[in-house]
Order: sequence, then structure tokens, then C-alpha cells
Amino acid sequence: MPIHLPQPLPDELPSAYAHRVGQWVLSWKRADKTLGQYFTPLATARFMAKNLPLTGSPSRLLDPGAGLGILACAVCEIASVDIELEAFEVDPDLAQCLEGCLSYAQQWMAKRGRSLTYKIRREDFVLTYADELYWSNSQPFDAVIANPPYFKLSKSDPRARAAERVVHGQPNIYALFMAVSAALLRPGGHGMFITPRSYAAGQYFSRFREYFFGKMRPRMVHLFESRREVFDEVLQESLILLAERSTEDSDILLSSSANGDFAQVVQRRKSINEVLGTDNILHLSLTDEDDAIGEIVRAWSGGLRAYGMETSTGPVVPFRATEFVSASGDVPFTHAPLLWMQNVKPMRCDWPVSHKSQYIRTGGAERLLLPNKNYVLLRRFSTKEERQRLTAAPYLADFDTPVIGIENHLNYIYRPGGDLSPEETRGLAVLLNSSLMDTYFRRFSGNTQVSATELRALPLPPLESIMELGRLSAYSDAPVDTLVTEVLGLYA
Ligand SMILES: C[S@@+](CC[C@H](N)C(=O)[O-])C[C@H]1O[C@@H](n2cnc3c(N)ncnc32)[C@H](O)[C@@H]1O
Repeated sequence: MPIHLPQPLPDELPSAYAHRVGQWVLSWKRADKTLGQYFTPLATARFMAKNLPLTGSPSRLLDPGAGLGILACAVCEIASVDIELEAFEVDPDLAQCLEGCLSYAQQWMAKRGRSLTYKIRREDFVLTYADELYWSNSQPFDAVIANPPYFKLSKSDPRARAAERVVHGQPNIYALFMAVSAALLRPGGHGMFITPRSYAAGQYFSRFREYFFGKMRPRMVHLFESRREVFDEVLQESLILLAERSTEDSDILLSSSANGDFAQVVQRRKSINEVLGTDNILHLSLTDEDDAIGEIVRAWSGGLRAYGMETSTGPVVPFRATEFVSASGDVPFTHAPLLWMQNVKPMRCDWPVSHKSQYIRTGGAERLLLPNKNYVLLRRFSTKEERQRLTAAPYLADFDTPVIGIENHLNYIYRPGGDLSPEETRGLAVLLNSSLMDTYFRRFSGNTQVSATELRALPLPPLESIMELGRLSAYSDAPVDTLVTEVLGLYA
């Protein structure tokens, strides 16, 4: 059925029209979350367009997952060159409306002596171009502007398979859009992407990062200081990245705004080495305080593995172990205590707590149980509202039981083939609970998830200092930050 779009207002800017059409579409059609439909706010689209260098004449522009074309329209209305646009949109209704928005942008540009030619491709962007990840032969675009869809794909999804080269663990479609876009850029071409922040550090994105940053050098990163600001329903921190297809480094402009209207953008310049770290993790430090903390922590040469320690994720996945997990039990005879996230509080482990099945049967569940030794227990997740990312408790073999159960929402730190001493256990927990570590962690991980990989990569101070923290905390009630300042001789 043909869709009759609202008429453009006299001299309406193309991006404003695309925005208005988007709002109108949402009045009669629910956004399809299975296609990751979140439309870019107008101010954000204009900010992205303004900062996208446009070379080539005509400039060949790609908008993959174009929706109503607000991003391409925002580029067109400030471009001083002609534009040849290729826009992908799989939703047939949106593709029809996109046609109307781009046609208006074309007329608008023509009135101002510039031309827009466009091709709307109603196909899956990843499947169409994934081969370019392997060959990258044609490089047909001068610029990409994208707010790609976000959702997790199963590894067997045809798109994940077509883009296998950049997939590690469970992929998110937005990273495939970014990787394929990078493959399609000519050398010197630029890509501007607004996406969740998870790729900046997440372990599942390591292959993506290797590929993407092997081709593209970041030039600008914009962060939104608070979640929820950009897309109301997306509970992920968003990040705007401008990157150039190039192997040459230059400084990176790091900017941030506290809200989505870009009225107060704070900017700082950083060298590539300060931003792009080991494993291509992005370190996004926004203030002098973040810088200072980054410097302190990165100067530490220790780490879990260097100290003969390891970290793993709790092996008990309750819904797969229902026959063993229960609300009551007889410890140590038939059952062992089962520790969940809810048992782990800063510097202490509360057990039992109500509302959680606190026991695991020992008979038959041997492979899920761990020897009752000293561990540092760390929550893997923080809620969106919690400021503190890292919450750790020392577990000093407290229960009278040969084995314990650790649930899958916890990571635990241990010494393979040996024991953590009580000082090490307490000291590590103090350090991990400190504002210093938390700030460091938050700045390089936009995720609310704390992965074992990220913990292994965390620099640590000398083991002797960690043990000193542990000794002090055993008889002092001072807050962890005070102990860290005292022992490490720094402001935390
Ligand atoms: C996050 S929305 C952004 C829309 C628009 N670019 C904007 O900024 O408002 C992503 C768009 O990609 C479309 N899309 C989802 N999967 C796609 C695919 N595999 N190929 C092409 N388009 C896709 C969705 O229908 C949706 O319109």
C-alpha cells in the first residue's frame, strides 16, 4: 500500500523533515525492535554530519540502516559538494518513507545548485557486502554515516556467518555494520558511527576491534555522560566515533556532552597512545582526574597472572542445575553453600540471604563445586543505576565445608595449584572496591559487565602493597579509599 507522507514545510531543512516523518511514522507504526529501530535525534544527527569530513566531488556517501535518512539528510544540507548516496533499509515501510525524505532532500539541494543522486537498497546490508571483509576490493565510498541497528545475533545467523572474520563469541549486529562499512571506505575516507559503547572494551568485540582498528584510525570520539540521554529506551551508553581509513595516526579529539543537545560540549585532545591501548581497547578519559588515575594505574606493572593468580566465572548456572540448587540444605553433610551476586557486598560476604536459593547439593554436582579456599568474589554485573562498577568481597574459606558453589553472575579470583593468603585476598578486595580502580575501570569499560578478560588485563600495584592493604584492613575500619591512599601513597 502506498504511504502518503506529510508534506514538507516551506524551506524545511531535509533533516528536520526526515525527523518529522520519523515521528509521524512512529505515530502509526511501532518501532521494530527486532530490526533495532531507534531513530537518531535531530541534534545528534546534525552534530555527526557537521563533524564528518566530506571529500570527493561528487562525494560517495553510504548510510547503512538508513531509517528515514536523517543522517544522510543532515550531511546533504551542509555539504558544499554534490552527493551520490547509497542507503540501505530492510523495513519496506521505512524504505518507502525514506524515498520521500531523500526525494525532498534532492529537490532542496537542487534549489541550492547542488545535486543529490541516491539509490535505496531494500536489502540486508551485511549480507550484501560482507564479502568485502575478505577482499575489500572495490572501496566505493568516500564517507559513511551510520546509526546501525543494535541487537545480539546468534552465531548461526547468516549475517554472523558471513562476517565470521570479525566475530568472536556472541556478535552484535552493529559491529558487523561498522566492520563492513570500514571495508567499503576508500583510503582517506571517513566513517561516523553512533553505537553502543560496548565495543570499546568488551571481550566479545576483540576480533572486531582488531579488524576495524587495523583499517581505521580514530579521529574523534564523543561520549554522552549519562545513559538514557540519547535514545530513551537504549540502556547502553552511546558513543559517537569518527574514524579515517588510514594507517597514519594523529591526535584524537575526545568530547563529551552531559545531554543530547550539544550546547555544552567539552573537548580535549589526546594522543593515539593515550586512547587506543592494548587489544585495541579504547581508553576514554574525560577529565584531568581520569587522566591522573589512568597514569597511576597504567604505571603499575603487576597483574593477576604475574602474581600467579587467575580469575574465572562461577560455574553454577542455576537454571541448568535446578536438581541441585535449593532453598534449604544440610551443610556440610549433603549440601554446600551457594554464593550469588546478592551475597557479595563491598568487603563482605553475607550468607545466607533471603530470596535466593542458598544451597547446592554436593552429591552429583561435583564438577560444579569448588574447593573451600580463599577467594576474592567479584560481581560480574552492576545495575544501570549503580555508580560503583566493581564490588568485591574477600571470602576467607569461611564455611565449615569441603566445597562451595559459586554462581555464574560472580567472578572469583584464586591461585591455581595453591592458596591466596588472607592478606592477598583482603588486599585485592580493598583495591577492587576503591574509587581509584572503579574510576579506571569505568573509563575504559563502557560496559556494566566485568569480564574475566578485563580483570586479567587490569594493572595491579606491587604484591607487597596489596598484602599491606590486606593486613591493614583486617584491623581497621577506615574506608577502603583511605587505606588505598595510605598504602599506595596517592590520592584515590
Ligand atoms: C538504529 S536504526 C537507525 C535509523 C537511522 N539511521 C537513524 O539514524 O535514525 C537502524 C535501521 O536499520 C534498519 N536495519 C536493520 N537491520 C538491517 C539490515 N540488516 N540491513 C539494512 N538495514 C537494516 C532498521 O530497520 C532501522 O531502520
